Amino acid sequence: MVTKELAERIKTLREQIEYHDHRYYVLDDPEITDGEYDVLFDELVEIEASNPDLVRPDSPTQRVGGQASGKFESVEHARPMLSLEKCTSTSDLQNWTKRNQDLLDIAIDEYVCEPKIDGVAVGLVYRDGVFVQGATRGDGTVGEDITANVRTIRSIPLKLKGTGIPSLVEIRGEVYIPLDEFAEYNAKAIERGEKPMVNPRNGAAGSLRQIDPRVTDARPLSMFCYSLGNASDEFDPRTHEDALDAFQSWGCRINPRVTTVKGLDSCSKYIQEILRVRSSLSYEIDGVVVKVNDLVMQRNLGNLSRRPRWAIAYKYPPEEATTSLTGIEFQVGRTGVLTPVARLDPVQVGGVTVSNATLHNIDEIERLGLKIGSRIVIRRAGDIIPQVVRVVEQGETDIQPPTECPVCGTAAVRLEDEVALRCPSGLQCPAQLKESIRHFASRTALDITGLGDKLVAQLVDSGRVKNPLDLFGLTVEELAEFDRLGEKSAANIVQSIQASKSTTFGKFIHALGIRGVGETTALTLATRFQTLPALVEAEQETLELLEDVGPILASNIFTFFGNEDNRIVALGLVEQGIEWPIEDVVHDRPCEGQTWVLTGTLGSMPRQDAKAALVRLGAKVAGSVSKKTSVVVAGSEAGSKLAKAIELEVPVLDEEEFLMFLEDPSTRSC
Ligand code: IVH
Repeated sequence: MVTKELAERIKTLREQIEYHDHRYYVLDDPEITDGEYDVLFDELVEIEASNPDLVRPDSPTQRVGGQASGKFESVEHARPMLSLEKCTSTSDLQNWTKRNQDLLDIAIDEYVCEPKIDGVAVGLVYRDGVFVQGATRGDGTVGEDITANVRTIRSIPLKLKGTGIPSLVEIRGEVYIPLDEFAEYNAKAIERGEKPMVNPRNGAAGSLRQIDPRVTDARPLSMFCYSLGNASDEFDPRTHEDALDAFQSWGCRINPRVTTVKGLDSCSKYIQEILRVRSSLSYEIDGVVVKVNDLVMQRNLGNLSRRPRWAIAYKYPPEEATTSLTGIEFQVGRTGVLTPVARLDPVQVGGVTVSNATLHNIDEIERLGLKIGSRIVIRRAGDIIPQVVRVVEQGETDIQPPTECPVCGTAAVRLEDEVALRCPSGLQCPAQLKESIRHFASRTALDITGLGDKLVAQLVDSGRVKNPLDLFGLTVEELAEFDRLGEKSAANIVQSIQASKSTTFGKFIHALGIRGVGETTALTLATRFQTLPALVEAEQETLELLEDVGPILASNIFTFFGNEDNRIVALGLVEQGIEWPIEDVVHDRPCEGQTWVLTGTLGSMPRQDAKAALVRLGAKVAGSVSKKTSVVVAGSEAGSKLAKAIELEVPVLDEEEFLMFLEDPSTRSC
């Protein structure tokens, strides 16, 4: 392509990626699949790599860039970043408003009520709509320049879109970690033997203070914008609500629960309502912020030394409580990790009785200085498992790390470089066997229905199931003998077990439960190795070269198949008749380097399957048709993409032709 065309293409790609980032990270409403997004992103990366002078700092490829800084420079805030007055009752709120009305000598009737996000305050500076600086609050006057880290947060636009963007604007808000992603991050950190985050707020603060932006990039940070910090004169909203609306129209993320209300009674209702839904929110809050909506009023009210008069934080009772640690038990996970669980004197936290709390790993006991009998603070937020926060009064009895597995009695081991203690017995340990069977049968693995926890426990405890292989020998008669399992359910389970034999190689690998190998890695391995013997024989060095497989994962996979018991089970499963479609076995990749587009409805297979088949053949599957598209597959009711393909003279296959092609990819030379 000539430079002009390239520049055009880059522009289009950047706009498309920005649009889809906004749909995904800000609106939480994606329009395209991750795979389709990757195709756009990869193309941009590729063009930019061969045309470095066309790279711009606001390109979506430049979120994680630059060198680790080593330290953070100081930034003086154009306007101080203030803190908030706190209150805990309706009468406090009434006094606050009365004071303000007395000062202004007029009635204040409009307020904006917002959840008070429990995260880290950050100011974002945009010059001519381009993100140029991100800073922490610091002491309110001087903060730290964390621009490189802030750039990695996908819900923060690198470039504002739309109209009315002033030459300078500083938008402030709270960076936080969503609760579900916090739980997922910690589970993975523990699995990798890394230290988990203490709580979402701490995690957000720690993530923003990483000297290497790549580390921040791997943290699930998000942001809600909630106030105007500073702006050039041409931005002159009348109300706080107008300012937030403008930010939203420019692509910034605003909390959907922000509401403008009239009168203090409505503020109180809002506060009650948010308290009611608090535990169902996907982020932690510690209260509600009530703000005077009119910006002239805000200006006239002004600030005290560290807080504005025009806003107040109504704080909820903390989701923390104090209780005593009565004991520690160790639970055995699927991969043998012994995880300590704190047993507590039952206590009410956020309306729920709590009698257990997680301790993540054995080092937590030392870090927190826990002893049996200690008075401790526990914390429970959203649906995440209660956690021990700190000790307030020391107990008497030391806690000894287990020397053996509490379930099978095998001596516990600590692997090199790992925090976790493990039971090394694998499937010989009933606890690990139960977890492995549950995983094997789970929806994203072999998808066997009806194998509930209780039945798995009975099958293992009775000695009938010693590994996943044994599931395939179960008969309706013997299953029906288990507690409260009728003939019909038993027959359904056996039927489901038999049906699970026909699967995909990716699901099969996932089902094996290799430490650290989730669905995505399993699919990568399946695509690369195609057959079980090839995977079993793979060298560690070969594994390391794969996308998303680092040295630790490569070693896990290699070690897994180095273990004879694992090999026997894996190969035995195939002997039992577990199989995946023959087209999975592709020895060469005839579509390497091609980009295919699927459009319309395929009657014979789900779109995901068609896509997977093409990916296995080496093709990229894109969401839009361009001159670079190699082939378009048009199902029924294909519309604009088909029209575009015809216009650009891109080859088109109908469904029948596509099926013939899949049957024998060598028939078509594209
Ligand atoms: S307004 C001058 N709105 O609470 C007032 N703050 O305790 C600026 N916070 O430092 C803050 N959610 O980090 C505002 N919706 C919200 C907020 C919020 C959380 C934090 C913010 C601030 C702290 C004050």
